[in-house]
Amino acid sequence: MEHFLEISDLSFQQIEQLLGRALYFKRQKHYPDFSHHNLANLFYENSTRTRVSFEMAAKLLNMNVVNVDIQHSSENKGEIPKDTLDNLAAMGIKYFVIRHKDKNFQRALASTEREIHIINAGDGSHAHPSQALLDMMTIMEKKQDLACLKIVILGNIRHSRVANSFQCLCKHLDVAELVLTAPKIWLPETVYYGRVSTDIGESLQDADVVMCLRVQSERMKKEESVDLDSYIRDYKLTKDRLALAKPDAMVLHPGPINRGVEIDTEVADGPQSYILDQVTNGVFARMAIIEALGRG
Ligand code: CP
Repeated sequence: MEHFLEISDLSFQQIEQLLGRALYFKRQKHYPDFSHHNLANLFYENSTRTRVSFEMAAKLLNMNVVNVDIQHSSENKGEIPKDTLDNLAAMGIKYFVIRHKDKNFQRALASTEREIHIINAGDGSHAHPSQALLDMMTIMEKKQDLACLKIVILGNIRHSRVANSFQCLCKHLDVAELVLTAPKIWLPETVYYGRVSTDIGESLQDADVVMCLRVQSERMKKEESVDLDSYIRDYKLTKDRLALAKPDAMVLHPGPINRGVEIDTEVADGPQSYILDQVTNGVFARMAIIEALGRG
């Protein structure tokens, strides 16, 4: 693997290996040594979980980590991102974790760069492949047979890179049923896997996993906005709505959570919530990604 850009670039075997290694790292606490390698985080968009998680992952592999302060970098003096990368690579940095608002920003850089590894930490509404891996890892820890699962993604799917990458992963792994549930205006323009529904009751019925998404106001065009009070009334994941799912249904959320908007606090912090397990697993999933890139 040269770069890690999108789930759809990966083979079934690569996905199996990444998930297997992530689960192994979590169980065994036995990690490879990358002490002669350097990793840079370049986040052009805000992040808490993904940036820190890649930093933790790299440090557990004994890497040296540089968090580039893009807002105060020489890109403010006209330097283009390709030159930023070339200069950092000239200092010996080989691994670049990049988040950007533009679709395929990382792929465009990857097409011109040699001898470095680019990891997509989110490109606009398009893809967030490391999130999909950690989401699936969290499910696989609790649910053995993906071919029997009903998984629901609930919320602002139209603007969600998390939903896109997760659909692609469910397709690779043959998840039995994936239901993309949202008000009509927030249904996806492109469906990679599963079916769409606006009927939250039908969707949640007997679900094994419910993945709630944040309302991403920052990515919405004016005509795509929904009255928030109506959304909260009709689609927020409440304890009563969750009761429609199986009693052992898992609740996931990629974060950040807007409590009381897409999910109630008693659900987010409740016994069926695996939201913080997702965050824990993110470190191991990202270790597996870095390791796979190191193998070439
Ligand atoms: N899930 C996720 O991408 O969170 P951050 O925006 O905090 O990185």
